[in-house]
Amino acid sequence: MAGIIFFKTADLKTIGDFYEHYLGMKLWLDQGKCRIYEHGNLRLGFCAANQADTNGTITFYYSQMQDVDAAYDRFGDIATDSPKLNPHFRIYHFWAKDPEGRNLEFQHFLAPDYDLTQTAKPLTILNADSAKPKLLLTMLLPDQAMQSLEQTFEVKANTQDRQLMKSELLAGIKDAQALLCLLGDTIDAEVMDAAPKLKVISNYAVGYNNIDLEAAKARGIAVCNTPGVLTESTADLTWALIMATARRVVEADDFTREGLFTGWKPQLFLGQDLHDHTLGILGMGRIGQAVARRATGFGMKILYSSRAPKDLPFEAEHVDLKRLLTESDILSLHLPLTPQTQHLIGRDELSLMKANAILINTARGAIVDETELIRHLKEGRIFAAGFDVYEQEPLIPQELLELENVVLLPHIGSASIETRNRMGLMASENAKAILEGYSAPSRVV
Ligand code: NAP
Ligand code: GLV
Ligand code: GLV
Repeated sequence: MAGIIFFKTADLKTIGDFYEHYLGMKLWLDQGKCRIYEHGNLRLGFCAANQADTNGTITFYYSQMQDVDAAYDRFGDIATDSPKLNPHFRIYHFWAKDPEGRNLEFQHFLAPDYDLTQTAKPLTILNADSAKPKLLLTMLLPDQAMQSLEQTFEVKANTQDRQLMKSELLAGIKDAQALLCLLGDTIDAEVMDAAPKLKVISNYAVGYNNIDLEAAKARGIAVCNTPGVLTESTADLTWALIMATARRVVEADDFTREGLFTGWKPQLFLGQDLHDHTLGILGMGRIGQAVARRATGFGMKILYSSRAPKDLPFEAEHVDLKRLLTESDILSLHLPLTPQTQHLIGRDELSLMKANAILINTARGAIVDETELIRHLKEGRIFAAGFDVYEQEPLIPQELLELENVVLLPHIGSASIETRNRMGLMASENAKAILEGYSAPSRVV
């Protein structure tokens, strides 16, 4: 059996020229209104239509890594980035767009025994200065934060736009006195043991579930984080998810762009109201409070669960988890990930939620049992979900990606320029304070 993947095109001639003459695919069949192009065993069909469909990705596979570079030499002018190793998926690839905006990917799958460390030499000393303490930085930060770091430390940094692999981290940390790391870097006893001079692990995040605190304590290594400076930005983003899921903003935007808006209709994209409804906050800490405070402007009733009632500057009722689940229209999670909170929202909890309820998670993915959540969303037992974080980040189950009643963001809660700079300044100050022996702005252990 041979297969053909068909797309609709609004401009058969331009698309035909592009695939045939620019990309060099062979015209396999010309049916007048449809043309089919061939490249290796890939067949792509394009049919004339009013609207182009541009979803998905057309991937051109090369058996040699250098062929990807050669493709980049030829097709660089339609590329949207340059060839990169992606150690997570073990591929070498770059992205491009066709004239109608379809995503093209030029890719090579790395062999199972391919040693990524040989090719990707990501660590560079940015400001050689032996008078300064040595800091390992696992990814470049925004400018102001970089300046502050380089003033205080000799910075060895990962200059690639990807997370360090464990082997690279182990090699890079050897002579470091300070580590400035990301929430996606797992900092365990093995990493600490590879760094005999390490005095401080400064996490560029408020959450620190990526760090083995007991191992750090046992080795006399301080652990610091960046609370407070990101509270308001994360609360803003939480509201972006609340609005987007309740009023189906992303779905409706897709629909409009696809040219499907043919006039006002009484039942087009009906969603949920926020005003006069109930917001439930699980974990009424800094971010939980900032999210709740914003709800007062929407005239929402606020319920919350926390280990103890709080003295709050706005009206909110402290309730147990069961009441929170059964009465909230929007349930927003703001707990840290700990052994106690892992899968706190599982099958039993989800089944208590209202059919019109929306679950928002900007805390940590593993607080929710993702498999159960997908089941509830599929069966329409809750209305929608909005996520900034995932159980096995950055992996997202295909089933979740395919659901329409979810809005999925790539962990961007604190991602404003000002906040990311403030976090960097705080993380830099934390590391400096520990090494110089004064009290750090935020020390966890
Ligand atoms: P926080 O001020 O420490 O608030 C956490 C709250 O959770 C506290 O009020 C705490 O209660 C409560 N809590 C802890 N364990 C609990 C449990 N078992 N049951 C009920 N409540 C519990 O922290 P934050 O600054 O608001 O940050 C919260 C989390 O958000 C972080 O840990 C991080 O994982 C996540 N975060 C995500 C993003 C993003 O980009 N999406 C950005 C920033 C933060 P007590 O008051 O009783 O201690
Ligand atoms: C982000 O997720 C953080 O914990 O700062
Ligand atoms: C909608 O635009 C209305 O006028 O009700």
